[in-house]
Amino acid sequence: MGLAFILDRLTGVIGLNVESIGVRSVERAVEERRRATGDDSIIHYARRVADDDEEFDQLVERLLVPESWFFRDVEPFRHLRHYLTYEWHPTHPHATLRLLSVGCASGEEPYSLAMTIMEAGIPHELFAIDAIDLCQAALARAREGRYGAMSFRGEDLSFRDRYFQRQGDRYQLAENVRQRVRFQRANLLGEQLPGIHGPYDVIFCRNLLIYLVPEAKRRALTTLSSLMRADGLLFVGHADPSPGQHFSCRGAAAFVHQLGSPKPSQSTPARRPVPSSTTRSRAAWRQLTTTSKASTLRQVPGPTPSPPSSSSPPRNGRGLAEAEQLANAGEIPQAVAACEKYLFQAPRDADAHYLLGILRTALDCDDLAEASFQQAVILNEHHYEAIVNLALLADRRGDLDVARELRERAERERNELRKASEQP
Ligand SMILES: C[S@@+](CC[C@H](N)C(=O)[O-])C[C@H]1O[C@@H](n2cnc3c(N)ncnc32)[C@H](O)[C@@H]1O
Repeated sequence: MGLAFILDRLTGVIGLNVESIGVRSVERAVEERRRATGDDSIIHYARRVADDDEEFDQLVERLLVPESWFFRDVEPFRHLRHYLTYEWHPTHPHATLRLLSVGCASGEEPYSLAMTIMEAGIPHELFAIDAIDLCQAALARAREGRYGAMSFRGEDLSFRDRYFQRQGDRYQLAENVRQRVRFQRANLLGEQLPGIHGPYDVIFCRNLLIYLVPEAKRRALTTLSSLMRADGLLFVGHADPSPGQHFSCRGAAAFVHQLGSPKPSQSTPARRPVPSSTTRSRAAWRQLTTTSKASTLRQVPGPTPSPPSSSSPPRNGRGLAEAEQLANAGEIPQAVAACEKYLFQAPRDADAHYLLGILRTALDCDDLAEASFQQAVILNEHHYEAIVNLALLADRRGDLDVARELRERAERERNELRKASEQP
């Protein structure tokens, strides 16, 4: 019994993927707690962690990352406001909207939700927000509602004038916002979530799943789906793993998902509709390269994206065919969902990553698009189209040296493809 036991317990109880914070951080926290308890060896401390839940909680407290700020990432809150104004409120004028913020840290997220809902014109008595976290210290700060500069990191801070009162170097949140949020300590991976009862119309669980081992992520998503209304929305963070096959993407830019299969939504129109095509083939969706934003970027010298032949072998995955069809019909968010679902089954399909990159480009998610193109190139280093798109994105970012290297690489790939196609 020693560090390995402690790591196992952390993974079993809170789902912690030790690599997400680094084994060294865990070792440091364990050492700090061992000294604080006066245990003379790690074996003794591990025994204490096994028997004493309070000490285990102290250790967990030391390992959590309760980092947050108001209106973090902006887009999810914009998406929510749009959804509430144009979909939810008109169809539920007298119902109470229920929201849950999971991993709420020091409260910036649920309070941002409260402000978003108030600005969507929903009266106080018609919404309620529950917020849970494991970290006691963060919850204490959340309940207090007093924040320093680090909680205000966005460009538009006009909300601070509307909802906060300055007190020295801190800002006190208005009482009418504080009252809309009920904080609870709860472990998302626990058997039960005391005081938390679904169904919720909207759940935010952002920047938490990233810290979990895959098995814990699955358990967490099962719990979240059981807490959601059938047509509810789940928002995750952009760095979080995709919620997987039981959810469909409804707005890629906001990382918002719905249970079940995708359905067209008026509130999330594809920002760059793709011309429809009657041909359902790889070639058909490859035309996206020339219709997506990437191709409307500043013209760069180098290869024209029309390789003589495919750089990856064709595959016949039904899921990907569905994604291609949706893409060609201009149903971009639905195509993203189908593509992500397909990748869940076939994570090594370079062409599917490439398609996801094109779709994400069409949705203006350049960072994510780049990650997808990179994944395509990792899986197939000769993926000409993915390399061309990486060059275009690097060029757009102003990374001119990288862009030039990528274009040269694409040129080499194009020559190879041409030679291969000329061989009898
Ligand atoms: C990085 S913060 C994210 C805060 C906020 N959601 C945001 O995106 O700004 C992650 C939060 O998840 C909490 N957390 C981690 N594991 C948890 C678990 N098993 N149950 C509940 N909360 C957890 C941490 O304490 C931390 O406050």
